[in-house]
Amino acid sequence: MDEREEDRRGAVARPDTEDGIAGGGPTDAMDEATARHELSRLAEVLARAEAAYYQADDPIMADADYDALKRRNAEIEARFPHLKRADSPSDRVGARPAAGFAKIVHARPMLSLANAFDEDDLADFDAGIRRFLGLGEADPLAYTSEPKIDGLSLSIRYEDGKLCHAATRGDGTEGEDVTANVLTLACIPRHLPGAPGVLEVRGEVFMRHDDFAALNERQKAAGQKVFANPRNAAAGSLRQLDPAVTAERPLSFFAYGWGELSEPLGRTQTEALARLSALGFPVNPLTRRCSSVAELLDHYREIERARADLGYDIDGVVYKVDDLALQARLGARSTTPRWAIAHKFPAETAWTELLGIDIQVGRTGALSPVARLRPVTVGGVVVSSATLHNEDYIAGRDAGGAPIRGGRDIRIGDRVKVYRAGDVIPKIADVDLTRRPAGAAPFRFPDRCPVCGAPAVREEGDAVRRCSGGMSCDAQMLERLRHFVSRPAFDIEGLGARQIEALFADGWIREPADIFRLKERYGTGPRQLRHREGWGARSAEKLFAAIEARRRIPLARLIFALGIRHVGESAARLLARHYRSFEALAAAMTEAVDPESPAFETLLSIDGIGETMARALVRTFAPGPERQMIDRLVAELEEIEPPEDRSAASPLAGKTLVFTGTLARMTRAEAKARAEALGARVAGSVSARTDILVAGPGAGSKARKAAELGVDVIDEDAWLAMIGGG
Ligand code: IVH
Repeated sequence: MDEREEDRRGAVARPDTEDGIAGGGPTDAMDEATARHELSRLAEVLARAEAAYYQADDPIMADADYDALKRRNAEIEARFPHLKRADSPSDRVGARPAAGFAKIVHARPMLSLANAFDEDDLADFDAGIRRFLGLGEADPLAYTSEPKIDGLSLSIRYEDGKLCHAATRGDGTEGEDVTANVLTLACIPRHLPGAPGVLEVRGEVFMRHDDFAALNERQKAAGQKVFANPRNAAAGSLRQLDPAVTAERPLSFFAYGWGELSEPLGRTQTEALARLSALGFPVNPLTRRCSSVAELLDHYREIERARADLGYDIDGVVYKVDDLALQARLGARSTTPRWAIAHKFPAETAWTELLGIDIQVGRTGALSPVARLRPVTVGGVVVSSATLHNEDYIAGRDAGGAPIRGGRDIRIGDRVKVYRAGDVIPKIADVDLTRRPAGAAPFRFPDRCPVCGAPAVREEGDAVRRCSGGMSCDAQMLERLRHFVSRPAFDIEGLGARQIEALFADGWIREPADIFRLKERYGTGPRQLRHREGWGARSAEKLFAAIEARRRIPLARLIFALGIRHVGESAARLLARHYRSFEALAAAMTEAVDPESPAFETLLSIDGIGETMARALVRTFAPGPERQMIDRLVAELEEIEPPEDRSAASPLAGKTLVFTGTLARMTRAEAKARAEALGARVAGSVSARTDILVAGPGAGSKARKAAELGVDVIDEDAWLAMIGGG
C-alpha cells in the first residue's frame, strides 16, 4: 500500500470522528457562504494543530479543543456535503510529515505486492509463474509462506557491517530518512559483524497489541492523543521528527526481504531468511516452505486460525517463490514482483445507514457517487464514506445490465453493508431491504454536472457518466491542477492541493501554465502572494523558487501530469522512453489522428499502450483548446528531460525486437521481459522499424518479411549470448 494512503486511512480511524455527524446545533442557521468560509478556516487551524502535533511533536491546542473543532467541521460538512473540501480534516490523520524528513532514493525500488483474494487467484498466480518459466504443472516449484504484517515497511542499509541509513518506503523509489529514529530501536542491530559489505535489509515495523494498549494508556494519562490502531501508532512513532520520541515507543520489526546486496544471502528465500535471522534480525517464526498450492492453502488456513492469538495485526499471508534464481528470472512488473503475492484475509464488514449520496466530479469529468455514511467501525477503522462506483452499481446492475446484489438498488436512508478489504476505499456490498424506510425513492443519478451544470453524458460502452463541460468546468480544471501538482507529477513543494484550491478559487491559477506565471503576476504589484492568508514573504519566495526549479522536468512526469485519461505513471514512462522528447511525442500524436497512419500503428506497437489509451492521447493532442493549454504550459518550461537511459550500455538499448518461432531455453514472456529490462522494445510484428528478429524453429512469415526488409535475424543462441545468458 502506498504509505500516503496509510495516513489517509489513519485519518478516518481517528476516535474523534466517531460521532462526528451531528444533526442540530448552530450549523442549522448557517448559510453556504459562511459554511464555506468556516470550513476553510477550520481546515487551516486543524492543519496547523496537526502539524504541531505530528511534525513538531509540540501540540498547540488541547485535545478536547482539537476534537471540538474537528466535530464542528464534520457537522458543517454533514449539512453542506458539496462544500466538503478536498483537504477536509475529516479525511486525514496528522499531517504529511514528509516535509521534515530528508529523502533517500532506494538503491533498489521498494516494491509492493499484487493481491490474491481466493483460491482461484492463487491458482492463477502459480499457473502464471509456471507459464513464464516454462514449467509443467507437475514440475516441482517451492514457495515460502509467511504472515503479511500490518505495519509499515522499512529499508535499512548496512555498509561494512555498520548501519548507515534507514528509510520508509515512500513512493517506492524514494522514502523518508528515518535513520536517527531507527537507531533508537532495540530490535534492530546497529552492527552486523560478518555481513556482506553492502546489505539492505527490508521488513515491516509494527506494534504488538499489548505494547499498543500500554502506549495508549500512557498517552491518555499524559493528555496526549490516543492512536486508533497499532499500525497508525507504529507509523506515527517511526515518523517522528524527534528520535527521542521514537525511542520511547515500543516498536517491533520482522525482516522479510532485502534490497541491494554485495553478495547473495543464500540460494533460496528460506536460506536468506535464516541468514538474516543469524545476523540478528527478527524473522517471523511462522514462515514455512511449501511445495504445492495445496500446502500454501493449508498454511494460509493455519495462519488465519492463529491470527487472533498472534498478538499483532496481520492482514493476509505472503507467498514467494523460494528459489532466488527463479525470482531473478521472473523479475517485476512496474510496481510488483512476479514471484510473490499477498493472499489477503476476507474483507471486514459492518452495517450502517446511508445518509446521502454525494457526486464528485473528477479530472476527466467522471461523476463519481460517494456514499455518505453514519460513521461505523469496520475492522478497527471508522468509516464515514464509501465508493458507490457508478449509477449502474447504485441501481443494482452491472455494466452489461445484469443484476448485481440480486438486483437490489441502493437508496438514501437504506441500511447498507460496508466492507473494507485491507487498505482500499470502503465499498458498499449490500443493502437490507427489510429495513428500507417507507417512502425511500430510487436514487436519480444527475444528468447534469453538479458543479458547472453542463450535461453529464454517458457514452455507449462507458460505465461512467461524464460532465461535458471540459475546460469550462471548474471541478475538472481544479482536479487537473491538483493532479498536476501531485507527487508523481510536478510535485512542487509548498503547492499542495490546499494551496491550489485557494488560488484557483480566487482565479489566480486557472491552468498549469498559470503556476509558472505566479511570480510575474503576484510577486510584486497590488496583489501579492505574500499578503495572502497563510502566506508570508518567506513562504512566497520559497514557492517561487520551487516553481522555478520545476521549469526543468522529466518528460515522463510531464506526460503524466497532463492528466490524460487512461495514461498513468507507467504508461507515461513508456511514452517517454519511446518518443524521448515532447516535440516528438506531440508531432507523432498529431500525425496519429488518422488511425490508418503509421504514427498510430507505432503508438499501438508500444507494449502497454492499448487502443483506448491511444485514442485518448490523440484526442488530447489534436488542435483545440486543450492542446493550446498544453502548449502554453510547455512554453513556460525550460527543459524537458528525456528519460535516463539506464540500459545505455546494453547492446539492446533503444532497439526494437520481434520474437518468432519456438524458443527452447526460455518462454516468450521471459524473453520479452529480459529484452525490455535491457532497454529494448518488443513488437508483435516485423516492420521497417524492427532492428532484430529473434527466430526460433518454425519461424514463418515474419522471418520472410524480415529478410525482405533487411532486418537482422538471429537464432536463440545468438539471443542468449546477446543478453549474457548463454
Ligand atoms: S514482501 C518485493 N513480505 O506488504 C516484495 N511484504 O502490500 C515486497 N508486508 O510493502 C514485500 N508483510 O510493507 C513482504 N511478509 C511480508 C510482508 C510484506 C507485510 C508489506 C510490505 C509491502 C506491502 C505490500
